[in-house]
Amino acid sequence: MELYIDTANLDEIKQAHDLGVLDGVTTNPSLVAKEGVDFHTRLEEICKIVSGPVSGEVVSTDAEGMLKEAEVLTKIADNIVIKLPTTVEGVKACKALSDHGVRTNLTLCFQPLQAMVVAKAGAFLVSPFLGRLDDIGADGVDLIHQIRTIYDNYGYQTKILAASIRGPKHMIDCAIAGADVATVPFKVIKQMLNHPLTDIGLKAFLEDWYKANPKPEAATV
Ligand code: G3P
Repeated sequence: MELYIDTANLDEIKQAHDLGVLDGVTTNPSLVAKEGVDFHTRLEEICKIVSGPVSGEVVSTDAEGMLKEAEVLTKIADNIVIKLPTTVEGVKACKALSDHGVRTNLTLCFQPLQAMVVAKAGAFLVSPFLGRLDDIGADGVDLIHQIRTIYDNYGYQTKILAASIRGPKHMIDCAIAGADVATVPFKVIKQMLNHPLTDIGLKAFLEDWYKANPKPEAATV
């Protein structure tokens, strides 16, 4: 399973990149606005750190406007992926970009037929939003299962990018459901490595070791 970080914060991206297991980055207009920086400059900075796919989202709502924005965004770096809303206009723009070999990420996907249509339009990634479905009492993980089954039935090549992930349980469920990628906040990346028994076990191992092998400074006291 590929792991992307869902942030526009450079410090978090650098820390996640330093782990050596980061495959890509997703941003959205809210995440970029939170940073208070120039969008294009920030994407350029991110692409200097991460060589995998970096999603930059358009803000136009018509296909023509989306394509104009995509023209500028794709010039920033080779690894830029154009993030488009899963709307009628977004699908038109997706098809046009895919036909020209430009990779797209169709975002704000909330039901399986949206995922089917964007796959037919050649999307590189589709982003079902788990957390936001759970927020309204629906089952986000169920959507991943449905999309996986449909894609496998027909051999669609679009990658399922599980988004709006709120915690480690979502990650486990997505991995079991067969999501190709998960994009997660930095907080969740850190949570993925946490277990209190790991900390307790490591503490005990080190205490036992240093009892039998005192550190030189302790030995001379
Ligand atoms: O970037 C898209 C998605 O991951 C947003 O997540 O937590 O705002 O629903 P969230």
